[in-house]
Amino acid sequence: MQQKIFISPSILSANFANLEKDIKLVEGAGADWIHVDVMDGHFVPNITIGVPVVKSIRKVTDLPLDVHLMIENPEKYIEPFATSGADILTFHYEAVDEDNIISIIDKIHSFGIKAGLSIKPKTEPEKILKYLDKLDLLLVMTVEPGFGGQKFMQDCALKIKTIKNHANDNLIIQVYGGINNTTGKICKDYGATSLVAGNYIYKSENIEQAIKSLR
Ligand code: DX5
Repeated sequence: MQQKIFISPSILSANFANLEKDIKLVEGAGADWIHVDVMDGHFVPNITIGVPVVKSIRKVTDLPLDVHLMIENPEKYIEPFATSGADILTFHYEAVDEDNIISIIDKIHSFGIKAGLSIKPKTEPEKILKYLDKLDLLLVMTVEPGFGGQKFMQDCALKIKTIKNHANDNLIIQVYGGINNTTGKICKDYGATSLVAGNYIYKSENIEQAIKSLR
C-alpha cells in the first residue's frame, strides 16, 4: 500500500501582502499542511516572519501549521510558537548544543505538538540517528536554507536513505529545497514521506496540478 505523502507548501514563496488568500489557495488545492519558514537573519542570512504572523494565520486555516525554525536559540521560542498555533515545530541540529536536543524535543512535546529536527546540507545524517526514536519528523534540507528558488542538491537527498534505514515507521521524513515533481519523486523513492515546496507550487500555472504531481 502506498504510504501517505504529506504535501506542505512553503508560504515563503507566497505573497506576504496577501497571506490569507495564498494560504486558502493551497488549502483549496489539496495541501496537507502549511510550511511556515521562520528566519532570524543570524542562523540564516534572511529575515522572514515570527510569532505574530503565526498567530494571525492560525485564524485563517484549519490545516496543520508546519513551523520551521531557522533561528538561533530555538529553545527560547518553543512556548510562543506552540501557544500561537504551531502543530509541528522543527528546529535545526546546527542551532543547538547536542546536549540540549532531547530536552528541546521533550519541551515541544510538552505542548502537545509534534517535534521535528532539521539538518542543513553540510550535516551528515549519522549525527542525528540517535534522536530519531524521540522525533515525529526529520527534515532534510536539499538546499542551503535562507532563500527560495535554489537548485536541488541530490547528494543531500541521499541522506533520506540512511535515515529511512534507521527510523521506525512513525517517523515522517520531510525534504525541502528545490522540490518539484522530478526531484520530489527522487526523494520519495529514497523514502521521504513529506515534501515541502515553495516556488514549484506558488509559481505554477495550476496549483492543484502542481500539488497532485508531488504525490
Ligand atoms: C529554506 C530554503 C527555501 C527553499 C525554498 O529556507 O532556503 O527558501 O529553497 O523552497 P523552494 O526551493 O521550494 O522554492
